[in-house]
Amino acid sequence: MKVTVFGIGYVGLVQAAVLAEVGHDVVCVDVDQAKVDNLKKGIIPIYEPGLTPLVTSNFEAGRVDFTTDAKMGVEHGDLIFIAVGTPPDEDGSADLKYVLKVAETVASHMTSHKIIINKSTVPVGTADKVKAKVQSVLEEKNKALSFNVVSNPEFLKEGAAVNDCMRPDRIILGTDDAKAEKKLRELYAPFNRNHDKVIVMDIRSAELTKYAANCMLATKISFMNEMANLAERFGADIENVRKGIGSDPRIGYQFIYPGCGYGGSCFPKDVQALIRSAKTVGYTAEILESVEAVNYRQKEKLFEYIHAHFDGQLAGKKVALWGLSFKPNTDDMREASSRVLMEKLWQAGASVQAYDPEAMEETQRIYGSRDDLSLMGTKEAALDGADFLVICTEWQAFRAPDFDLIRNKLSTPLIFDGRNLFDPALIAEYGVHYYAIGRGLSVKQQTK
Ligand code: UDX
Repeated sequence: MKVTVFGIGYVGLVQAAVLAEVGHDVVCVDVDQAKVDNLKKGIIPIYEPGLTPLVTSNFEAGRVDFTTDAKMGVEHGDLIFIAVGTPPDEDGSADLKYVLKVAETVASHMTSHKIIINKSTVPVGTADKVKAKVQSVLEEKNKALSFNVVSNPEFLKEGAAVNDCMRPDRIILGTDDAKAEKKLRELYAPFNRNHDKVIVMDIRSAELTKYAANCMLATKISFMNEMANLAERFGADIENVRKGIGSDPRIGYQFIYPGCGYGGSCFPKDVQALIRSAKTVGYTAEILESVEAVNYRQKEKLFEYIHAHFDGQLAGKKVALWGLSFKPNTDDMREASSRVLMEKLWQAGASVQAYDPEAMEETQRIYGSRDDLSLMGTKEAALDGADFLVICTEWQAFRAPDFDLIRNKLSTPLIFDGRNLFDPALIAEYGVHYYAIGRGLSVKQQTK
């Protein structure tokens, strides 16, 4: 099928690549000429496991192409995806200007029926706005053409995006048109084997499904972080509590890991956006407001431990930091907890020696070169001459470090672990002091 994807960000690029992989004829349109040129040379703008070979092999096979030519893009696709960004505007609402711009572009250039599919995460009611925009441009230009707008939210996780797209656990289609549904079922047939994963519903429910999914997951995390804070004060170990409650299948083991807060491009933005759009319909989303507040506080947690441990005397301290990305297997640092920590450490006069397996360039891009930040080539090098170690991201490579080396390299044998990677009893055997999130043991150690 002939498909066009507007917006070569995370969602658009992964979607385009997997559609091409199963044989669809895909054109990607973006306003960024440099990005388009790079993609044609096989340079992929994001780090995502499996994505580079997928994009390059499909580009070489002629199944996916990249262009800034919107007119050509609109002519090409019978199915047109909108996968552009919806950044939060000043008050946290999703900004629809890019989405509506694509709607306008499609309407300006279309000369035949189009199915316009919204993949971007957008507030409930956006499909109606897209419809109205397309309709008004068509009328302006005196074009009597039909079109459909479908809501088809994306549920991919960074770091597992290709797999999530190739093997989706559900394919949500929000549509009020039987023919559009049939076309989308055909498009997704290669991904819809074994059992029917397509769930068809009205457009507004599909739009809300996306927010509800992310907000539910964010709620689970903030809930666990709240329990962790209680466990710490009660002298209990949240890791035991986690296992204890996860064994109940109604609760489940997933997304109940306490830590130094959730980050990324989705949870913080989507929780905020739903809080804002709730207000527009006269409702206060109290649970979501708390989810956000707890997360905000949780991101300051590691700094609080550090500050308390050193009685606020942080000026001149050199801090080894492992993990900069908001989660493993990505170089994405949007809303990452490491940023809150680093910025607070700098304010307090400390310097940071950081290592991350993927996010070093991104850190450099965000913070530039500064005297109080050194980016080190290995996790061991980050320990050189440092006073203590902090861990912000649960990369696999951090899970079994050489604790003797850590103890010998640090001036104070001390680890602040924002992801509860280690067994506190084991660390104690190595003579290393250990702070983790919500673990009674670490509370005892706090009383130096
Ligand atoms: C998320 C959703 O999982 C995905 O379905 C949606 O389409 C986009 O948003 P993503 O942002 O890529 O995906 O990352 P995810 O793996 O969900 O992690 C988000 C954050 O939550 C990370 O900072 C992670 O460290 C944190 N997290 C996750 C926890 O703190 N505890 C957990 O138990 C799970």
